Amino acid sequence: MNNSPLKKEVVDQKIKELRIPDIGKASIREIVALVNLVEEETGVKYVRMEMGVPGLPPAEIGTNAEIEALKRGVASIYPMMDGIKPLKEEASRFVKNFMNIDVSPKGCIPTVGSMQGTYAAFMLAGNIDKKKDTTLFIDPGFPVQKQQMLVLGQKYKSFDVFNFRGGKLRQKLEGLLSQGDINSIIYSNPNNPSWICFTDEELQIIGELANKYEVIVMEDLAYFAMDFRKNLSKPGEPPYQPTVANFTENFVLFISSSKIFSYAGQRCGMMIISDSLYDKEFPNLQKRFKSATFGSTMTLRILYSFSSGTCHSAQWALTAMFRAANEGQFDFVEVVKEYGEKAKVMKRLFLENGFKLVYEKDLDEPIADGFYFTIAYPGMKGDELVQNLLYYGISAIALNNTGSEEEGVRACVSFVKREQFNELEDRLRRFNLKYSGN
Ligand SMILES: Cc1ncc(COP(=O)(O)O)c(C=O)c1O
Repeated sequence: MNNSPLKKEVVDQKIKELRIPDIGKASIREIVALVNLVEEETGVKYVRMEMGVPGLPPAEIGTNAEIEALKRGVASIYPMMDGIKPLKEEASRFVKNFMNIDVSPKGCIPTVGSMQGTYAAFMLAGNIDKKKDTTLFIDPGFPVQKQQMLVLGQKYKSFDVFNFRGGKLRQKLEGLLSQGDINSIIYSNPNNPSWICFTDEELQIIGELANKYEVIVMEDLAYFAMDFRKNLSKPGEPPYQPTVANFTENFVLFISSSKIFSYAGQRCGMMIISDSLYDKEFPNLQKRFKSATFGSTMTLRILYSFSSGTCHSAQWALTAMFRAANEGQFDFVEVVKEYGEKAKVMKRLFLENGFKLVYEKDLDEPIADGFYFTIAYPGMKGDELVQNLLYYGISAIALNNTGSEEEGVRACVSFVKREQFNELEDRLRRFNLKYSGN
């Protein structure tokens, strides 16, 4: 039966043209390129779930502030390496207001997206102690960070946290950290792609073990406050965005503006380094980078070499957005709740057509509706599913790309428009008709 809206040969031809040897292992950007080519050739629009493009307009408070800054002439002026002062101050207030943690403005440093932030932090953490040459990924995770390790030529280990939630996390982590080669731990929370959200108990375990084994925790908060089960949107009022910073001082947090403020295009995020880590001296840093402390090595050696700072006008945009959020005039969480609403509908469409959720539970609760969800089709491996969905005009990435041990795909809701839901339903129905054998 061939009931797909696309000719299989066209998709196969484009896969060949792009020299993608294994579609299941294709990177996000390879799938993007492939779908662009197929759309161009066939005129058929895909339901695009492969990449976390925000899908909402940028926060106007940001764009207005940026336009004003450009009109004032900031484009001609190099920004300070560690960021403009007002941004550092507002970011410090932001983490106090929405996480209830104290970090001085000094440790709040803009980076060219969180992508640059993690790249810089991986490099730094990998050079602190010769014996500790490995980063530990609590997976599933954001595939591009593994690519960063590849490009850096640094080592990593990883494990799928699915079977190690709650108290079980301690034993698993301790087993790995006690080997003595881990310099840092990275995870995203809420988690891309599974959307599990670590609890305080789990964050406490991570924090305590980071203290015990002297490792740096890199907490990637690209989806800050997007656990919509709780209202994390009120400045200065609990509940707050959970964070490992409550349990250790060995932390670097990454707050991306891409999703929370739909500001991905301007490539400006924040790295938040704890006061004590910022000033901590590591003899090996002096040897390797001719700079004694974590903070000075980060700013005056690594970020200086990478990009000599971060887009000046975008820093003013972030300043304005943080300030408005701090003052309770900009409810950024309300704006992005749309993702959760869309996820609810999209999940239903998949489940009604033979699919199953992969990461279905967040401890004892059903997984929340958010930016991503994970789905499988019975009897189909993740990479087969990616390929077969491509024939039906639906694009996603395989879960094994994310360090997951489960078979399935990651579905990103952000870029799918509500107007496409009928099309999605129709394609899923046809898909199920073909593969269910009914
Ligand atoms: C977990 C995670 N970290 C980092 C990023 C990248 O953030 P930025 O756009 O700020 O570089 C993403 C984007 O999808 C992400 O999902």
